[in-house]
Amino acid sequence: RWSVDKYVDDLGSYPHISQAADFLINNEVVAFPTETVYGLGGNAESDDAVARIFAAKGRPSDNPLIIHIAEEQQLSSFVEEIPEMATRLMKAFWPGPLTLIFKKKEGKISEKATPGVSTVAVRMPDHPVALALLKKAGIPIAAPSANRSGRPSPTTADHVWDDLNGDIAGLVDGGPTGVGVESTVLDCTEPVPVILRPGGVTKEQIEAVIGEVRVDPALADVDHAPKSPGMKYRHYAPDAPLHLVDGSKEFLQMLVDEKKAEGLSVGVLTTEENQDFYQADFVVACGKRVNLNTVASSLYDALRKFNHTKADVIFSEMFPLEGVGHAVMNRLMKAAGHRVINS
Ligand code: TXA
Ligand code: MG
Repeated sequence: RWSVDKYVDDLGSYPHISQAADFLINNEVVAFPTETVYGLGGNAESDDAVARIFAAKGRPSDNPLIIHIAEEQQLSSFVEEIPEMATRLMKAFWPGPLTLIFKKKEGKISEKATPGVSTVAVRMPDHPVALALLKKAGIPIAAPSANRSGRPSPTTADHVWDDLNGDIAGLVDGGPTGVGVESTVLDCTEPVPVILRPGGVTKEQIEAVIGEVRVDPALADVDHAPKSPGMKYRHYAPDAPLHLVDGSKEFLQMLVDEKKAEGLSVGVLTTEENQDFYQADFVVACGKRVNLNTVASSLYDALRKFNHTKADVIFSEMFPLEGVGHAVMNRLMKAAGHRVINS
């Protein structure tokens, strides 16, 4: 486990970065910070390295990985064609939390990294440590979030350590990540591009650059077959069952009281504004409701906090579907297995 200060000059000549890059070149897996969440990186061209990623996470082997690059010119070795709109999006948002899906050029990226698909997802993370590491390694790096499969994505090095210590070759600690939810995944192989996963870059921001985009209907409709293989799994979940509450604070408190009367330990997921209102066994605040970016950046840490409590059941407030609120609600719905209680 190496600690790297992301503000130091010339990270590329930092010995920890070189050591981590050597591990990657030798097909070992290394966790590293990005601006969204920590990733678990491995050489995308190596079957062995990719197999190690899936093994460490316990990830279903049919769920493709995002390929991380530090320079746009790396794309041409494994991407068949770059549509004009993608060029504009890269200019506007890379490095940054936007993953683009392209037609895959066969033969370069391990088949295990892109199982069952003819496309490849790529992003350039906006984090000095990630970029220095990717540049030093010089190879495309496959990197899913560095959590054990099913658990909330890691936004601190300690989260990674809790999940994967002993199963990975290295962990670069660059402090807490910023955005807190994963990148937006946009399929650019369709004439009108489609958002497969809401994330750090909002639909409005993308539309301001390229005009109309669509949203995968599976995001709104639980019965619709998801196009992004990762969207079908229960994910981000704390150990205790989570229920989203569509109603007032008073209604949520009433649900808490009912469970307490049954003798259960009850947790509440709220924000700083409402933290003092609730009478429950465990009250966890994630950010401030007035600024949904702060909710996004502390959401996974908040969900993980419940695993250090004895809560039997958790009730959570809901958030408006605007800006990064789409990503927050998407992750909360998955964490809750789509259980919503209406007043
Ligand atoms: O912010 C992020 O994107 C983080 C950091 C580490 O970069 N990475 C991340 O990776 O969230 P992961 O593996 O946890 O999520 C990747 C998502 C999954 O839902 C997967 O199904 C989807 O992207 N995906 C990857 N390749 C795809 C493809 N070719 N077609 C459709 N969906 C794809
Ligand atoms: Mg993930």
